[in-house]
Amino acid sequence: MTKVTVPLPPLEAGRSAIVEVEGQRVLICRTAEGLHAVNEHCPHQQLSMEGARVRHNSVMCPHHGARFSLEDGRSLSPLTTKGLTFFACAVRGDRLEIEI
Ligand code: FES
Repeated sequence: MTKVTVPLPPLEAGRSAIVEVEGQRVLICRTAEGLHAVNEHCPHQQLSMEGARVRHNSVMCPHHGARFSLEDGRSLSPLTTKGLTFFACAVRGDRLEIEI
């Protein structure tokens, strides 16, 4: 595991954004509790989750609606049993530290 910091994306609760970390695209999601970082490829059909909506403590793929937990990345949908890769992250001033 490597800790990498990126500029903190300006996100309101319920929104997500893609950031590049060490050549890998990571989906950053903001819930009411804080920020979460997951792999941006949906395991259902390997499509990008860019534009995914965040509700409560889960994120929904914009393509077919698969939902994943933002506690640990596990699937919450019958569309796939595979979950998202979950990365620990923490806000450090105006940057986001991600363990990747
Ligand atoms: S590609 Fe994400 S739900 Fe199908």
